Amino acid sequence: MTARVAVLVSGSGTNLQALIDAERDDPDFGGRIVVAGSDRADAYGLQRASAAGIDTVTVAMQDHPDRPAWEKTLVQRLLDQRADVVVLAGFMKLLSGQFLANWPDRVVNTHPSLLPAFRGAHAVADALAYGAKVTGCTVHLVDEQVDHGPIIAQRAVEVREDDDDVTLQERIKTVEHQLFPHCVKLLCNDRIRVDGRRVRVLD
Ligand code: GRF
Repeated sequence: MTARVAVLVSGSGTNLQALIDAERDDPDFGGRIVVAGSDRADAYGLQRASAAGIDTVTVAMQDHPDRPAWEKTLVQRLLDQRADVVVLAGFMKLLSGQFLANWPDRVVNTHPSLLPAFRGAHAVADALAYGAKVTGCTVHLVDEQVDHGPIIAQRAVEVREDDDDVTLQERIKTVEHQLFPHCVKLLCNDRIRVDGRRVRVLD
């Protein structure tokens, strides 16, 4: 059965584009992106989704009295689309346990560092400022803590002496654009088993 995939974005959506391309090009992808959601109407990722014929939805914080109300609307929009898997592709809002309970071990995120190093919203700049020689990207299941859930896969990216935030971020994204669709494919094909913090991929 093809998994129904919801992708949440807050920004440019290059990872969403990589997922759209993977679904189009890989007959075994196992997932169909049924909706792209955002907290921001101006997220360019929504335009990428529309261009691919994917439904879009914006659930803005400012249209709600508080964070739980915002999250409740977001959950409802994704349930309306019967999403089986929720993919965070540069989604800049934290999600609570109440959200996650709807998709146990079925919410996945990509983060631009080798976790547990450099959690948070400035991972690339933080790695540079720290003087790390190697950083990378981590695809992980989402739990209630920031950039913390069980790790599905990681790839290293070398930090070059002449790197700045932009050049390093771009090289990390190039790697993410391969790794993230690969991991979403595993999830869509029910090939991921979680034992505590450890993730096993079935053959
Ligand atoms: C990615 O680098 C991802 O690791 C982080 O946000 C960025 C999103 O980029 N969580 P894009 O919007 O997919 O281009």
